Order: sequence, then structure tokens, then C-alpha cells
Amino acid sequence: MNILVTGGAGYIGSHTCVALLEAGHSVIIADNLSNSKRENVEKIMRLVDKEVTFYEIDVTDEEAVDVIFRNYNIDGVIHFAGHKAVGESVEKPLDYYCNNIVSTIVLTKACKKYDVRRFVFSSSATVYGDNTVPFVESMNLLPTTNPYGETKAMSERILTDIAKSNPAFSVSLLRYFNPVGAHESGLIGEVPSGIPNNLMPYVTQVAKGNLKKLQVFGNDYPTVDGTGVRDYIHVMDLAEGHVAALENLTEGVHIYNLGTGKGTSVLELVNAFEEANGIEVPYEVVGRRPGDIASCYADVSKAERELGWTAKRDVISMCWDAWRFEKNNFLRLPTMLNR
Ligand SMILES: NC(=O)c1ccc[n+]([C@@H]2O[C@H](COP(=O)([O-])OP(=O)(O)OC[C@H]3O[C@@H](n4cnc5c(N)ncnc54)[C@H](O)[C@@H]3O)[C@@H](O)[C@H]2O)c1
Repeated sequence: MNILVTGGAGYIGSHTCVALLEAGHSVIIADNLSNSKRENVEKIMRLVDKEVTFYEIDVTDEEAVDVIFRNYNIDGVIHFAGHKAVGESVEKPLDYYCNNIVSTIVLTKACKKYDVRRFVFSSSATVYGDNTVPFVESMNLLPTTNPYGETKAMSERILTDIAKSNPAFSVSLLRYFNPVGAHESGLIGEVPSGIPNNLMPYVTQVAKGNLKKLQVFGNDYPTVDGTGVRDYIHVMDLAEGHVAALENLTEGVHIYNLGTGKGTSVLELVNAFEEANGIEVPYEVVGRRPGDIASCYADVSKAERELGWTAKRDVISMCWDAWRFEKNNFLRLPTMLNR
């Protein structure tokens, strides 16, 4: 299939492009590089030794999106493009609503115009709010605590309504849990800007010595050791989940949790990182962060049953691969600067 991957130069998008190409699909990336670099596209091609078509466009731009649909026989869209920083969304709600909602509308309008019937959307476990774990796809969604989460819940509703109005449209809403790690080659991975919001990039920055200590937000939650519990999923497992969702897509709306089904606490992840890589990660416990919930992990039985997909890589592999990417980037930096 010819797949349009919006946000394909970003963290999850780039890994998914690799998995798509390896599965024999063709990839057209549309990305405005607001949170990624063009070199990621080159790295994707290098990893799989295949060509990728790249458009540096904003997917809220209807004209620019139309050009792609006009020029290519698109079979499906995977829509990753969006802003994703929870804290920033509280400060700049309009930016988040405009970018994340308008992009979904523009892309689905183009799908309608060009009769493209497959649409896979990057949603998030955040739409479950503070439900009881494990989160199951059939649960009623609870309000999220930030505009970012609301854009995901709203995009889900928009896509559901479009599918209801057009029975030929097939939509897969993928609710990601906590993607971490990097491609096993160490060539592509997550490059956070500033002080990372997410745990693994924070841990790698501390391990590298860029930050002195990891701040652990609260150790008085009702969890195994008092620290927050999350369902970490290796980004390559997540990428393969997209290929499974796309290839098994049937008419209507389908919602899948993409996680491992296992909760890991902050301190368990820190210990796993230290064990996997032999590096100490100093930390200090500080107060709870507003909006954080105690535990978040998935019931993954639906994806296994309907897509034949399960996450295969364990937490130690996630820690190895995250660190390998970090080291590679660090060591290659002087060479890249000399170019
Ligand atoms: N990383 C996570 O923890 C996580 C968890 C749940 C859901 N998600 C969702 O998955 C998707 C991908 O996340 P990621 O971690 O790879 O983020 P990312 O920032 O690395 O990738 C997003 C990409 O989209 C691009 N982009 C943003 N707005 C655009 C626009 N208007 N037009 C064109 N390109 C645009 C950015 O340049 C970037 O390359 C996002 O929608 C995010 O909300 C991420």
C-alpha cells in the first residue's frame, strides 16, 4: 500500500516508517519539521535501503495536503503529526486545538475527496483520564486534565462521526501507553527539547550527565513503591502495532490499546536502566506533579485477539536501546559538526 505518514520524521513516526517499509509498503512523509529534523528521513532510508518521498508541509494547510493526494494514489493515512507536550498545551491551548484538530479535519476532508478509506490515528491513553486500571477500550472516557488530552479525545470523536456517516471509511484509533526506547540500530530515537517531560529521556539525560538528578514526582501514590506506575512500550513494538492495525483494518471504527499490559513504577524503571547499562542514575523525590495519575496500564487483549499483535520487547531492551541511541548521538556529534 501507499501510505501517507504525517509526522513521519518524528519519534514514533520515523520508527513506524521503518516498520512499514520493512513490511513492503511505500511511504510518503508529510512533516513540517517543527519537532524533528530532515536527517531523520535520510536515516529511515538508510536503515531499510529504500526510497521515501518527503514533503515538508504543514498538514493543517489544505492546499499543500491536496497536492499530495492529487499526485499519489494514497491507500491509507497514518496521522502522527501534532503537538504533544502536556504542560505546553496548558500554556498554549489554542496552538494545540488548532494544530491537532485542524490537521485531523484537513486530512479527513482530503480522504473524502480522493476516496481514501483507511485512516490510523495516534491517540493516547490519556483519554482514559483517571479510570480504574487496567484501561479497557470499552470504558467511558473521563475528562483529561489538559488541552492536549482533549485534542486526542476530540479527534477520536470527529473520526468516529465521519466513519458513522460513511460506512466505507475504516478508522483505527490507537491509544498509546508510554513509548520509550529506540530502533535497535541506535540510528533513530527520541530527541526531546529542553528538560524532558517523559521519564526515559529524563533518565538518559541524567545518565549522560546533562542533568544532575532525576526528579521523581511523588512517592506516596498507592502503588508498589509509592511512585507512579506506567505501561512502557518499546517504540518498535508500537511501530509494528501500526502495521498490524493498518493491515487488519476493516470498515468502521476500531479502538486498540497499544501497550504491554504491564505496569512499571518510576523506581523500577530507574533500577532496570541501571542494571541494563551499568550506570547510576541519581534521583531525588519531589512533590507530586499536578495532573499525574497513580497508575496507567493497558488491557491489551483486544489488540492481541483482533490484530494478532503483542509487544515483544521487555523493559531491559527498552533501556538498552534508549541508551544506545543516546550514546550514538553523543559520540557522533563532533563528526557531524565538522561536516
Ligand atoms: N510520545 C508519546 O509519549 C506519545 C504518547 C501518546 C500519543 N502520542 C502521539 O503520537 C504522535 C507522534 O508523537 P511523537 O512522540 O512521535 O512526537 P514527535 O513530536 O516526535 O512527532 C510529531 C511530528 O509531527 C510533526 N508535526 C507537528 N505538527 C505538524 C503539522 N501541523 N504539520 C506537519 N507536521 C507536523 C513534527 O515536526 C514531528 O516530526 C503525536 O500525535 C502524539 O500526540 C505520543
